[in-house]
Amino acid sequence: MSQFKTPGLFLLAALPLLAISAPTHAQSVLGSGVPASSEPNSTERPVSFAEQAPPNGALIILMQNESLPETAALSANERSAVEAAIASASFKGESGQTLELRGIGGHPLILLAGAAQSSSEALDWRSPAGSAAQKLLKEDVELAILGATGASAMADAALGFALGQYRFDRYQTDVDKAPSSRKVTVVGADASAAQNLWNSRHKHLAESVNMVRDLQSEPANTIYPQSFVDRVSAAFKGVGNVRIEILDEAAMRKMNMGAIVGVGQGSPRGSRMMIVTYSGGTGAPLALAGKGITFDTGGISIKPNKGMWAMKADMSGAAAVMGATLSLAKSRAPVNIVAVAALAENMPGANAQRPGDVVRTYGGKTIEILSTDAEGRLVLADAVQYVADRYKPFALVDIATLTGSVGRALGDEYAGLFAREDKVAQRVLSAAEKSGEHLWQLPLHPAYAKAVRSDIADVKNSGVTGAPGASAGAHFIGYFVDKSLPWAHLDIAGVDWNSSSKPLTPKGASGFGVRLLDQLARDWTE
Ligand code: BES
Ligand code: MN
Ligand code: ZN
Repeated sequence: MSQFKTPGLFLLAALPLLAISAPTHAQSVLGSGVPASSEPNSTERPVSFAEQAPPNGALIILMQNESLPETAALSANERSAVEAAIASASFKGESGQTLELRGIGGHPLILLAGAAQSSSEALDWRSPAGSAAQKLLKEDVELAILGATGASAMADAALGFALGQYRFDRYQTDVDKAPSSRKVTVVGADASAAQNLWNSRHKHLAESVNMVRDLQSEPANTIYPQSFVDRVSAAFKGVGNVRIEILDEAAMRKMNMGAIVGVGQGSPRGSRMMIVTYSGGTGAPLALAGKGITFDTGGISIKPNKGMWAMKADMSGAAAVMGATLSLAKSRAPVNIVAVAALAENMPGANAQRPGDVVRTYGGKTIEILSTDAEGRLVLADAVQYVADRYKPFALVDIATLTGSVGRALGDEYAGLFAREDKVAQRVLSAAEKSGEHLWQLPLHPAYAKAVRSDIADVKNSGVTGAPGASAGAHFIGYFVDKSLPWAHLDIAGVDWNSSSKPLTPKGASGFGVRLLDQLARDWTE
């Protein structure tokens, strides 16, 4: 008689054997293991500079007013045809105005784009070039940009074009007409000086902004803390005077970083802190800290589904600090920077943290968690303390998609700026002005500082009454920044993603903060 009296017993006895011989049904990879694409984005138009336009090409003419600039690219007949069109369209060359002409002489197309702003403002060479890049994205012809006067105007036009032609199309397999990859030439007498300016600065800025846009656009099944680290590390490969330090969860746990590790504890994707230093100058560094939530479901305090997809870009602050540092390092700017990305995925799960939990941070201060959806301030609490303690910066700027509140207050043209000292605010505002990325200062008030205090821990991350949402967030982060350290907080939750296209930013990821922080770092050294 068989020793197996019942099928059940037989199965039990066979179990260990099955476990060895059959592949396990538990997945050995996170996610599906099937990458959504192995293709990069479509190739962009390469940018170059020349003194003369190639004959009979398509032309973009940047206009300072209604009069057509002198150019050898138009014959006398073509010139009078264009002038007639300008007159009949009442084209004044104002910023935002464009006039598209086809069938004139040998040119497949001529696009006039206005560069004039109000009389108090300088000509804007970037925006019309950016608009033209978007308008002509799928025109499969070479382009020449005319009308920018002087090397800096020419390099600015190239920057505008490079920012405007950004596309994120690597997941689109079914397109009628792909964007053109034919070249664009910025034409003018100062071509060689413009080319040098482009090579040494503008090109790196454009590439860094577009890298940040890629990181923002990538869905969270592609970008999670470790893959963010991998991509950014790859971008820094071979760049001089750069050091990269990565803290994994074990390292962060050892240093009692309970806030950032707590945010990530509901996710199987481990949290990371990425610290990049660039040493191109003298003196203490400027510290830049970015919120890097690779996806924000809200955690146990889960968000409603409407618009939740946009939380793939909740790492925009972290991407911006890395992009600015990349741009500064590649252009060998004479500055010292320490940039920190506080990376975690905010997921609900059996091991997720709960409302009511208390966590300990790097410096020993404690936080009561009232909403697991106020997670950005948590990861930043550890990041700002760590970077201040270990790198002794002379000033600290943090940047975060922190609150819906800031978007409701300021819309999508201004990010919120918070600073304790007026002279700090002025520095940041002037860099914003120069870069074209706008900020509006919002209040820090002692009454709001009291409002973030907790009954059971030092501070609470939510449930703050008596302070507006964005200010409560700013005060919370400020609680972890020593009063003697000049500090500014940028809340970019309203500007990280464009719902429609703008001249320098096609619809979608904006790359906000790269140009601003690049400018600020150049202007603010110890
Ligand atoms: N990532 C969000 C903020 C956000 C909202 C960014 C919309 C971009 C667009 C942040 O983590 C969040 O959930 N904030 C809460 C804070 C609240 C719970 C104190 C908010 O703004 O509602
Ligand atoms: Mn949240
Ligand atoms: Zn968030």
